[in-house]
Amino acid sequence: MTLPTFRLDGKVALVTGTGSGIGQASALALAGAGATVVLTELPDRLDAAEATARTAREEHGAEALVVPLDLTRLDSIGAAVEGATGRFGRIDVLVNNAGINIPQYALDVTEEAWDAILGINLKGLFFMSQAVGRTMVARKSGKIINIASQMGVVGYFKRAAYCSAKAGVVNLTRVLAVEWAPHGVRVNCIGPTFLETPLTKPFFEDPAYREEITSRIPLGQIGTPEDITGAVVYLASPASDLVTGHTLLVDGGWTAL
Ligand SMILES: NC(=O)c1ccc[n+]([C@@H]2O[C@H](COP(=O)([O-])OP(=O)(O)OC[C@H]3O[C@@H](n4cnc5c(N)ncnc54)[C@H](O)[C@@H]3O)[C@@H](O)[C@H]2O)c1
Repeated sequence: MTLPTFRLDGKVALVTGTGSGIGQASALALAGAGATVVLTELPDRLDAAEATARTAREEHGAEALVVPLDLTRLDSIGAAVEGATGRFGRIDVLVNNAGINIPQYALDVTEEAWDAILGINLKGLFFMSQAVGRTMVARKSGKIINIASQMGVVGYFKRAAYCSAKAGVVNLTRVLAVEWAPHGVRVNCIGPTFLETPLTKPFFEDPAYREEITSRIPLGQIGTPEDITGAVVYLASPASDLVTGHTLLVDGGWTAL
């Protein structure tokens, strides 16, 4: 019996939001698996993505291209996809990682915060998927991996907009999987638990908050971006070819309780 391959040699993978956190770790893991990587970042954070690109080149010998992307603007989405396909001819793997959170109790949620969270985490992710999905459907091949959250399947305090957006991503994943399966395009989702990243660092500085979160995770540990990369590489690789429409929870058992 031959072992399934997790290698991505010759593949082009585009990851959104690569200057830090899960996006940075995912891009480096994909590069480590042999992929050429396209690293997107907000126009005012391109330096951070360039640093990730340098690491991909130096540590993995990968080809790495940085392109600006602001998911709140459809013209920026179009330009980023054209930048990647113009340089490499295609995108084989899209990791929709970029996202934001503005924790507020439901009674305090402002329209501005709601629109920002839904606008980036759900609307932006959809139109990015549509732009790349169009090229994948035409080529009859591709893998899309959406970084949602365990908050897409459970509720939590101060997460009204965030949970709504992430639940939207979980079910959008199913829709795209069903529509694009006949075209050879797989669409899956990853639901991480709480991880320590720039997005969450300020909250974990409060010891009581850290204790409260850790106590809810059966494995008893807050995750790191590297904890997510195995799932990303698996869903990008031929080893997951029969998997689509799935949400893989990397949550230390949070949702099993
Ligand atoms: N950290 C966690 O605990 C955790 C848990 C579950 C899911 N997630 C999800 O993982 C993803 C990455 O989060 P992270 O924790 O690594 O945070 P992060 O802040 O390190 O990364 C977020 C990335 O998104 C980019 N971004 C923000 N707004 C953007 C926009 N308008 N257009 C394009 N890019 C934009 C940022 O520049 C950054 O690169 C997010 O979707 C987040 O919701 C995080």
